[in-house]
Amino acid sequence: MSIEIPEGLTELLQSFTVEVLRNQPGDLLEFALQYFTRLKENETRGGAFGNEHNSAGRTGKAVNFIEEAMQIDSENGEEDDDDEEFVAPIINRFVRRASVCAEAYNPDEDEEEREPRVTEPKTDEQRQRLQEACKDIILFKNLDQEQMSQVLDAMFEKIVVTGEHIIDQDDDGDNFYVIERGTFEILLKADSTTRTVGSYDGRGSFGELALMYNTPRAATIIATSPGALWCLDRLTFRRIIVKNNAKKRKMYEAFIGTLPLLTSLEVSERMKVADVLSTKLYNSGEQIIAQGDLADCFYIVESGHVKIAMKRSKSKNDSEDEEVEIATCSRGQYFGELALVTNKPRAASAYAVDNVKCLVMDVQAFERLLGPCMDIMKRNIANYEEQLVTLFGNQIAIEEPNA
Ligand code: CMP
Ligand code: CMP
Repeated sequence: MSIEIPEGLTELLQSFTVEVLRNQPGDLLEFALQYFTRLKENETRGGAFGNEHNSAGRTGKAVNFIEEAMQIDSENGEEDDDDEEFVAPIINRFVRRASVCAEAYNPDEDEEEREPRVTEPKTDEQRQRLQEACKDIILFKNLDQEQMSQVLDAMFEKIVVTGEHIIDQDDDGDNFYVIERGTFEILLKADSTTRTVGSYDGRGSFGELALMYNTPRAATIIATSPGALWCLDRLTFRRIIVKNNAKKRKMYEAFIGTLPLLTSLEVSERMKVADVLSTKLYNSGEQIIAQGDLADCFYIVESGHVKIAMKRSKSKNDSEDEEVEIATCSRGQYFGELALVTNKPRAASAYAVDNVKCLVMDVQAFERLLGPCMDIMKRNIANYEEQLVTLFGNQIAIEEPNA
């Protein structure tokens, strides 16, 4: 028997759920009543945000429609239909704007598709530098040749000076940035205190979150040296990268749902994980991680087998090390978390046993998204030590993970 899911049901329930989670109402039924009544009213009124780009001031913020509407209710006694400040969204625009989490995105109703293609003139030398800067950017990994060339065409260079604020937390999102050169500090403001949570050194990218999820900027980014950035405008980013990510979500949704590590994540958080993953292929015998290297990413095995091996001295007098196999990871298992958690070099090497496909996440995304999975990881890290004691006696100890 096949049951047909009415068009729009998923989005409707998804956006309602997001609003419930954001507002945590005491009376769920009352909230639902208000929510759907308001939605119906707005649909009837047929209001809309208007074009993406000419409503940026409003749309860039995570518009909380119910909260806003309720505020108007409480301020005015009742909602004023003529209130020009309150622009009611139509249902599918609302669905896309409201979700602070994994934004519902339907590539089939892609109005950005109709936007003219952006081309920023560049010299050959600039284009070459741009290509080099973009070659390891995870968000660009799944683009086909045509999409990649549209992205490169649209990007423009920005020279920055020490101390320049590239992004300010809570602002609207304008561009996505790829680092050409320079160092940058990541600052997070919470409860009126601002702290540095990380940095970029000469490579990487930032500024994707506000554009992907239509949320305010989640952090402040300041240049800590003179540098250069490649910028991609919001519309091109959404038209190409976000659209591509919708496909990626579909592709990885089922697999990600089966990963024991991610059980403590909400569905919307898992979607975000799908958004930041890229796929890497390794041939049989190829080295994936080298013990002692600095770490900048985390791996999940999608197919094939990965051997983890650690060096140990053959004997006290022998300076040469031999490598001892300590574990094998297969589909659904992860590796490469230890160095990111302890902030130390890679504790072991990893090799593809056969042809291997891994999902890879960079350190910033790891820190941002996998906090809720830390308990599981730390439990497993505790097991590593036992494993090593069994193999090597007690001469090797794993560093305590950072709190
Ligand atoms: P966006 O929210 O658009 O703007 C600030 C950017 O900082 C954000 O996208 C991410 O690309 C980047 N960033 C790096 N680390 C973090 C973090 N821990 N939390 C939020 N944003 C971060
Ligand atoms: P990392 O140190 O980043 O890189 C090597 C990875 O090997 C490590 O993270 C763990 O994910 C994995 N590994 C598996 N078993 C062990 C073990 N017993 N000791 C250390 N690392 C291990």
